[in-house]
Amino acid sequence: MNITVIGCGYLGAVHACAMAELGHHVVGVDVDRDKIEALSEGRAPFHEPGFTEILRRRLETGGLTFTTDFSAIAGARVHFIAVGTPQGPGGAADLTYVEGAIEAMKPYLGKCLNGDEVVVGKSTVPVGTAARLAPSVAAAGTLLVWNPEFLREGFAVEDTLQPDRMVYGLPVDSDDAERAKAVLDELYAPIIESGTPRLVMDYATAELVKISANAFLATKISFINAMASVCDAAGGDVTALARAIGMDARIGSRFLRAGIGFGGGCLPKDIRAFRARADELGVGEALNFLAEVDQINENARHQALDKARSMLGGSVSRARVAVLGTAFKPDSDDMRCSPGLALAAELADEGAHVVVTDPAAAPILVHDDDLPYDVAVDLEEALTAADLVLLATEWDQYTRCDPSWVADLVGRRNVIDGRNALDPEAWRNAGFAYAAVGSR
Ligand code: UGA
Repeated sequence: MNITVIGCGYLGAVHACAMAELGHHVVGVDVDRDKIEALSEGRAPFHEPGFTEILRRRLETGGLTFTTDFSAIAGARVHFIAVGTPQGPGGAADLTYVEGAIEAMKPYLGKCLNGDEVVVGKSTVPVGTAARLAPSVAAAGTLLVWNPEFLREGFAVEDTLQPDRMVYGLPVDSDDAERAKAVLDELYAPIIESGTPRLVMDYATAELVKISANAFLATKISFINAMASVCDAAGGDVTALARAIGMDARIGSRFLRAGIGFGGGCLPKDIRAFRARADELGVGEALNFLAEVDQINENARHQALDKARSMLGGSVSRARVAVLGTAFKPDSDDMRCSPGLALAAELADEGAHVVVTDPAAAPILVHDDDLPYDVAVDLEEALTAADLVLLATEWDQYTRCDPSWVADLVGRRNVIDGRNALDPEAWRNAGFAYAAVGSR
């Protein structure tokens, strides 16, 4: 099938490659020339395991191309919208890019000569968006489907090709719905044939599935971080607690890792956008708890800061602090809403000499001259003479690090395990004062 992907950021670029892997002819379109140039030359504009290999392979076969020219979409059967929906004023999602994409596509839609043509929304949008956009898409001679994406950074390729489920939000008209569904079923045939559940619903429910899934995940993390605060006060151990409650299949053990909180381009923005939309719909109170989820997430960082102060004798001022991890999670170079960077900025604000490092993100940060902290590309450099080591992102390189090697580098042996990912005994045996989240 000839398909196009509008927006070649994280979601779009991965989706374009994954669709090419399924054997489709894919054209990725983006207004950002640098991004298109990089992708066309087989260079990934972001860090994602396995992505570069697929990109290069598919470029070589000729089944995948990238362009800034929207006219390249004319005649394709399926057009994915994978542009960003950043946080706008008051927390609401900013739909400028989605609306702009549709406007830019319109002159070239409705030109497919072999079967129904479908526009497929993948971006995370406020409920009601698809219904609002459908008439203008229909006027251009195409059908609109909302088909949210559930991929995680770090597992993006795998999540796209082997998703837990696929969700189709279909048009109200039953004939249109059947035709749109048939096109998507054909497009995704190998995924469906491998047994992936395919769930069919209306636009509103599909949009809500995506945002409520992220809201639930954020709530789960804040729940365990709230338990960590109680454990800290009561002398309990949140890791043991999470393990025990997670064995109840109704609760489940995943997303119960306490730490300095969730970051990234999705969970923080999505819970705010969801609240803003619920307010507009007059049901803001139903989602009041998400304000609490957001607040607990902020508090998780403040508590780590309290621990840093108390470890350093009441103040971090003039102490050298090594922050390990500026990406919001391992296997990513994404620093949007990064808990590690937020902590680094707060420590610097309190007068600490902060040195941050990250295997994937530090090489990006070094180009920024206007930071309140130093950036070390090398772990050894970051650790040298540190008075405190703070683990902010649980990269393997850091969790597997030998504490006695670190002990020889640092100035004072203090470590805060902001992800409960280190072996407390090993670090204490190497002479470190060790503090984690929600445990002694
Ligand atoms: C999230 C969702 O997990 C995906 O399903 C969704 O498709 C995606 O957003 C999106 O909307 O595009 P992602 O942003 O890649 O994916 O990151 P997560 O794996 O959800 O992690 C988010 C944050 O939570 C990270 O900072 C991570 O360190 C933190 N986290 C995660 C915890 O603090 N504890 C946990 O137990 C799990």
